Amino acid sequence: MADHCNLVSVLGLLLVLTLFHNPITVAGQTIPAVGLFTFGDSNFDAGNKQTLAKAFVAQGFWPYGKSRDDPYGKFSDGLIAPDFVAKFMGIPIEIPAALKPNVNVSRGASFAVADATLLGAPVESLTLIQQVKRFNQMKPANWNDDFIKKSVFMIYIGANDYLNFTKNNPNADASAQQAFVISVTNKLKNDISLLYSSGASKFVIQNLAPLGCLPIVRQDYNTGMDQCYEKLNDLAKQHNEKLGPMLNDMAKTAPGFQFTVFDFYNAILRRTQRNMNFRFSITNSSCCGVGTHNAYGCGLPNVHSKLCEFQRSYLFFDGRHNTEKAQEMFGHLLFGADPNVIQPMNVRELVVYPVDEPMRESWEPTTSTTVQASDSSRGYEFY
Ligand SMILES: *[C@@H]1O[C@H](CO)[C@@H](O)[C@H](O)[C@H]1NC(C)=O
Ligand SMILES: *[C@@H]1O[C@H](CO)[C@@H](O)[C@H](O)[C@H]1NC(C)=O
Ligand SMILES: *[C@@H]1O[C@H](CO)[C@@H](O)[C@H](O)[C@H]1NC(C)=O
Repeated sequence: MADHCNLVSVLGLLLVLTLFHNPITVAGQTIPAVGLFTFGDSNFDAGNKQTLAKAFVAQGFWPYGKSRDDPYGKFSDGLIAPDFVAKFMGIPIEIPAALKPNVNVSRGASFAVADATLLGAPVESLTLIQQVKRFNQMKPANWNDDFIKKSVFMIYIGANDYLNFTKNNPNADASAQQAFVISVTNKLKNDISLLYSSGASKFVIQNLAPLGCLPIVRQDYNTGMDQCYEKLNDLAKQHNEKLGPMLNDMAKTAPGFQFTVFDFYNAILRRTQRNMNFRFSITNSSCCGVGTHNAYGCGLPNVHSKLCEFQRSYLFFDGRHNTEKAQEMFGHLLFGADPNVIQPMNVRELVVYPVDEPMRESWEPTTSTTVQASDSSRGYEFY
C-alpha cells in the first residue's frame, strides 16, 4: 500500500513537473516574453524612412494613419501587419522604428525601410544587409543572446529589386530573368545567414506579392481594367518558388535554424480574384491617390489625390500598400493560419517551438501552385 502511494505521488510530481517545468512548450497557454524584429521594405517600415529621409515623406502625413489619427511613417491608413502580430504575441508596446531616437526597443524593433532592396544601392534607404548591420550595432546595448534566439525575425524584401529590374530591362528574356532571380535569392540567403550568425534563429519569411497586380503597377504599365502585369507576377513566382527549398536547406545545415514561409502571394491574389468573399469591394485600384487606378501620390502635398470614403472596402490603401483592414487579416494569417497559408508552422507555433530543436517538418511545394490553379472549387476562399 505504501509503495502504491509512493508511486502515485511520484507520478503526480512528474506530471506537475512536465506541465510546469517549461511553460514555453505549452502552446496556447503561455506566450513567452520574446521580441519581434522586422526587416525589409515599406511594407514593414515602422517609420525608419521618415527618420532617414532629409525631405518630406508622404507617409508621415494625413491620410496615412488616418484610421488611428497617427501618421507615423507607416504605409497604411492605420496599423501594419507586424503591429498585429506583435499584439498577438502579447507584446505590450508598439514595435518601434529602430532608427528613430529614444525609442523603447525592449521587445524588438523594425529595421525595415521604404525603398529597401537586396541588391543595388537604394536612395535614402538601407539594403537588407545594411539593416542587419544596424541590428548588430544596436545588439550589445539592448538585447542578450537568449532573447535574440527566442525572438521572431520577420522579413519582407525583394519587391523593389524586381520593380527596378523590370523598369530598367523591359525586354529581358527568360534567361536574363532567371539569372536575376538567382542573384536576388542568393543575396537573400546570404543576408539571412548573416542574421543567423548574429544569433537569430526563428525566421518568418513573407513571400512576394503578385507584384503585377499592385495598383501602381497596373497604372504604370497601362494594363487596362482587369489585367495584372504578368511579367512581374512571373518574376515574383520564380522568386517565391526558390524560397522554401532554400530555407529547407538552411534548416538542414544550420543547427537550430527554424523558419516558416507566409504565402503572401496567394493571400493577395485570392482577395483580388474573389474579393467579395473577403468583403473587399475594390481590389484593383487604391483608396488614396490619383490616376487610372488611383495609385499615385497619396499624401504628397502638391498632388490633389483622392481619398475613398470607406477604407475598409479597399484591399489597397495606396498604390502598393494595403489598408489596415487587410493588414489585420494578414496579421491573423501570420499568427494563426493553417499550413496552406503559412508553412510549415504559423507564428504562434514558431514562438513556442523549443529553441535549438530541429524542425519536425519542412516546407512543401504544394500550396502556391495548386491553390492558384483551383481557385474556385476547393473551398480555399475563406482564409
Ligand atoms: C519599455 O517597455 C517595457 C515593456 O515592454 C517596459 O516594461 C519598460 O518599462 C519600458 N521602458 C521604458 C524606459 O519606458
Ligand atoms: C536599379 O537598377 C539599376 C540598373 O540595373 C542599378 O544600377 C541600380 O543600382 C538599381 N537600384 C537599386 C536600388 O537596386
Ligand atoms: C476593377 O474591377 C472592376 C470589376 O471587374 C471593374 O469594373 C473596374 O473597371 C476595374 N477598375 C480598374 C481601375 O481596373
